[in-house]
Amino acid sequence: MKKFQVITLFPDMFSGVFGSSMLWKAQKDEHVELSTVDLRQFGLGQRKTVDDTPYGGGDGMLLRPEPLFAAVEHAKQNDPDAKVLLMTARGQRWKQATAQAHADSADNYILICGRYEGYDERIVSLVDEQVSIGDYVLTGGELPAMTVVDSIVRLIPGVLGGEASAEIESFSDGRTLEFPQYTRPEDFRGMKVPEVLLSGNHAEIAKWRSENSQVAEKE
Ligand code: ADE
Repeated sequence: MKKFQVITLFPDMFSGVFGSSMLWKAQKDEHVELSTVDLRQFGLGQRKTVDDTPYGGGDGMLLRPEPLFAAVEHAKQNDPDAKVLLMTARGQRWKQATAQAHADSADNYILICGRYEGYDERIVSLVDEQVSIGDYVLTGGELPAMTVVDSIVRLIPGVLGGEASAEIESFSDGRTLEFPQYTRPEDFRGMKVPEVLLSGNHAEIAKWRSENSQVAEKE
């Protein structure tokens, strides 16, 4: 069973996402184990400090290395061979193919969520991969970590169940394609379901879907 441990200052942010829908079901069905590690618990001193001002000056606070090292070491005690991914806007762009490669691998993961204005660069020495989910800057690595976990878990065989989802996504040229879909009613406020989809002609339907597919993964 694939395991994910997420190191974060905001474990509460994950309870909704990990506790709902497909991610919740994937845990219930024992396809994955999802957990959080509260970085604050590894903070320094009575106040459990995790951040400090940057050397050389500048605005904002950086995550200090000691709490992050301690948190990763704790997570590695649970799972010594887990791969460490750091969520950072400076990382390699996450793609469908990256998610697929990680879903296919036997690896378990420790995800580090950056926060505030950044982190002490020495934490990079702990990291196997730096991951960016896109060319924009978020306030922390929590949303990226959720995105990365979701995109891997849904590709683990058995998680999505029916063949339908695979059928929607995998086309012969290997790209990820999506076509428009309709359900009942046939006529909603004058907007009709395309005739071909009601025809029962599977060849015609496949042709229509192919013609109306979008490449979901663009460079
Ligand atoms: N942290 C802040 N912005 C991010 C991004 N785009 N991807 C991953 N981690 C981030």
